[in-house]
Amino acid sequence: MSVGAGGHAASVAHALLGVAELVAVVGVSTREWSVDVLDSDADAIALAQQQDRRLVVTIGENRRRLEVIDQLPPDLLFSAAASTSTVSADVTLGGSSVVLHHAHVGPGARVGRGVIVNTAAVVEHDVTLGDGVHVAPGAVVLGGASVGAGTFVGSGATILPGVTVGAHAVIGAGAVVTRDVPENACVVGVPAVERHRTERTPS
Ligand SMILES: CC(C)(COP(=O)(O)OP(=O)(O)OC[C@H]1O[C@@H](n2cnc3c(N)ncnc32)[C@H](O)[C@@H]1OP(=O)(O)O)[C@@H](O)C(=O)NCCC(=O)NCCS
Repeated sequence: MSVGAGGHAASVAHALLGVAELVAVVGVSTREWSVDVLDSDADAIALAQQQDRRLVVTIGENRRRLEVIDQLPPDLLFSAAASTSTVSADVTLGGSSVVLHHAHVGPGARVGRGVIVNTAAVVEHDVTLGDGVHVAPGAVVLGGASVGAGTFVGSGATILPGVTVGAHAVIGAGAVVTRDVPENACVVGVPAVERHRTERTPS
């Protein structure tokens, strides 16, 4: 079951075709879903418990996704990787984490809860991704780098080996991060430099 019914929910549903059976989505949606659309998380929990189903939270915005995950029973959460992705056998994905089509997670990587490794993103060996991190499509996090909880890594960005990015930071699309980034910072460009950040974290 998908807790979330927007664009990211659609991407997850598509990526997990053949890996997990989608039986319902939760939330308000302008999309056409071929499964039941439930009104509330409570309805989803009840249905999951009745039918022995599991939930994945597919809200794109990092803080909101983690807030919802924190309110759900941990044993009802599942994590999954698309059949086209490559996830090293020694990697455990935290609850409600997803690896989408053609993405890669290398050996020794540590992946928290509610993490999104989006389409064609690369998370190299020995990388740490904190809870609620989103590695957007085509972004690359190189060996031994560490990304703090809730941080958004924009599409096509590269984080160089061993770099530490603090929690709740924003890495702009296409940035090349050569140095450590403080928590809550927003960096853009090549090489990435800090800029004023707007309130909203991208999704
Ligand atoms: C970095 C980012 C979060 C900034 O968003 P924002 O605060 O709304 O910024 P704005 O669009 O108002 O742009 C502000 C300035 O930053 C520049 N800028 C924005 N994003 C940039 C980027 N990725 N690289 C370099 N410069 C960037 C803009 O050109 C603008 O410059 P100006 O003031 O000289 O005109 C956003 O542009 C971004 O890169 N988002 C990632 C999107 C993405 O990867 N989505 C994946 C979805 S799955």
